[in-house]
Amino acid sequence: MVSFARFLLIATSLAIILFINPSAAKSRPILVTNADIKTMCSKTEAHSLCLRLLTNQANDLHELAMIPLYLALKSASQTRQAISPLIRQAKNYKETQAYALCSQNYSEALDSVKLALLLLSKHDYRGLRVAALSAVVKAKACGVRVATFINPFSPFLQKNGDFKNYCNILWVITNRLLEYTTS
Ligand SMILES: *[C@@H]1O[C@H](CO)[C@@H](O)[C@H](O)[C@H]1NC(C)=O
Repeated sequence: MVSFARFLLIATSLAIILFINPSAAKSRPILVTNADIKTMCSKTEAHSLCLRLLTNQANDLHELAMIPLYLALKSASQTRQAISPLIRQAKNYKETQAYALCSQNYSEALDSVKLALLLLSKHDYRGLRVAALSAVVKAKACGVRVATFINPFSPFLQKNGDFKNYCNILWVITNRLLEYTTS
């Protein structure tokens, strides 16, 4: 009898907490299996990278999102740093200009990723999706510029591609998070 009363008390308080505090409800873990990861990765632009990064790494979808997010953060700041020597080594005005614009795009991309980190911690998945996409758009603008005006085989494009992939994987996970939290 006593244990049933206790159970009832716990159940009631839990219901109250979830009811009056929707953010508590949102922070419940969202279980994710390797089959889910396979499905998500099939929607990304870099399937095998995605599988390699995510498989067996976390059981919770929110936690899983942190993996590409941290990689994107590291990659954005490293890529932005890699642009400065390229500006100095540029052979002509056109190259200097292309890298300078690129550098601005990457500053903004880095801001988007920092914002994404904040939004993930607030469980604002809608905002997170916008931030992830915005980071990809900035990086794409830079990549197209380098490929067109400098060299389509520039090693810089590899770094740029890695960054775009991390953001793309984050974007796909975010879509999944939104499916769970808006239904
Ligand atoms: C990239 O940076 C340049 C220079 O600031 C800017 O004109 C362009 O709109 C940026 N592209 C994107 C997609 O933000």
